[in-house]
Amino acid sequence: MKEQLNHPVFKMLAAVAAQNNSEAYVIGGYVRDLFLHRPSKDIDIVVLGNGIEFAEAVGKQLKTKVAVFKNFGTAMLKYKDLEIEFVGARKESYRADSRKPIVENGTIKDDQLRRDFTINALAISLNEANYGALVDPFGGVADLDERLIKTPLDPEITFSDDPLRMMRAIRFASQLNFNIDEAALKAISKQKDRVAILSKERITDELNKIILSPIPSVGFNYLFDTGLLEIIFPQMANLYGVEVINGKGHKDNFYHTLQVLDNIALHTNDLWLRWAAILHDIAKPATKRFEEGHGWTFHGHEDRGARMVPQIFTQLKLPMNEKMKYVQKLVQLHLRPIVLAQEVVTDSAVRRLLFDAGEDIESLMTLCNADVTTKNEYKVKKYRNNFELVKQKLKDVEERDKIRNWQPPISGNDIMNYFGLGAGKEVGLIKNAIREAILEGEIKNSYDEAVQFMLKKAEEYGLRPKE
Ligand code: CTP
Repeated sequence: MKEQLNHPVFKMLAAVAAQNNSEAYVIGGYVRDLFLHRPSKDIDIVVLGNGIEFAEAVGKQLKTKVAVFKNFGTAMLKYKDLEIEFVGARKESYRADSRKPIVENGTIKDDQLRRDFTINALAISLNEANYGALVDPFGGVADLDERLIKTPLDPEITFSDDPLRMMRAIRFASQLNFNIDEAALKAISKQKDRVAILSKERITDELNKIILSPIPSVGFNYLFDTGLLEIIFPQMANLYGVEVINGKGHKDNFYHTLQVLDNIALHTNDLWLRWAAILHDIAKPATKRFEEGHGWTFHGHEDRGARMVPQIFTQLKLPMNEKMKYVQKLVQLHLRPIVLAQEVVTDSAVRRLLFDAGEDIESLMTLCNADVTTKNEYKVKKYRNNFELVKQKLKDVEERDKIRNWQPPISGNDIMNYFGLGAGKEVGLIKNAIREAILEGEIKNSYDEAVQFMLKKAEEYGLRPKE
């Protein structure tokens, strides 16, 4: 492994270890990522003895500040673009009700045994006697080869030490497209309720990493199958299942949603657009009806779904800012391009969609493309062709009418001034009428035509321009 530790910082760390007569190892994610050829900037160093003292000696050598976290027995420093964390080898156990460890001194093997997964328990020696040697007592390299997430200890103990590891197991499986070892999976199903002691933020952090992984359904299938999803995000678990009445079923909205999410993951790394894919049909269970002679319907699921978005964001401690509004808007509008693609595409319908979607029109089209999950090739082709048509129309209309981020040429204030009115019902009615007339193509998007139209409309309300 020597040649892998090619960053000069490792020689320096080794020199400090030799000077201090202590043993040190690179451990955890950095070593795992060396094997996976994933460049990493976070280095974890485990020291036999006092990690903080060792960190301070390194800080002195590098002339950099060391941040010390006494309660955890850890210290951290930054060196160039690297973040290096130091900890003393632990033979630790956890209190049942908290994540704060009780620390005892241990050997390197003790420390590795208490880590979460075999692939995260790999260490490389920084000691003179065997510099660069791989220390792998629990078969981490073999598990990397087998693409397996497995705990060094009995998984029941590993997960009970820290329940966040159940989320981490699924997150790593999803990020790396690995399988989770059978025994570990069983232990997660058994201990799933213990996620209750974790903060919502930590759970959502892991959930977001699953969502951002290359094939997010890998993680969500595990979340669902172990029963964790039901606990952390019940609205999504509720999408699962098919009801049949008079021999008619509907599609399983859980697996449909996963497919939409996997589809969109091929086209965007934007977390919030991926969230929109997760939430686009979230209100289908709540709006599901069986209509005689017609079959299953989900009328209004886009409105209801949009209303659920703030509630879900609050529950999951996701940010209640413009990101939430963006997701909400996409959920609200997700059917519009499809409806458009099924009809003759008129300019006015395109203008209206552009007005409603504004600068998020491309995101909306990406979502709608991902939403086509039918196995029927003929239908897929038809939708895709129509989408291309809608896209072309969007482009034409946008170039001509500049509707995106558009404001009507006459504002509420203009109307009040023109007629000497205070704020009132008529002002809003006239303003909306002008906007509608332009979107419908009745009048051009120009100030003069808008004034003419306004005067006509005002007459209907018995209003006269002020002298
Ligand atoms: N670790 C652990 N149990 C946890 C968290 C972390 O045993 N609940 C150990 C693992 O050995 C892990 C190391 O601490 O490799 C560092 O953890 P962290 O920085 O959270 O994760 P990485 O493995 O580095 O991976 P990533 O950066 O992708 O999160």
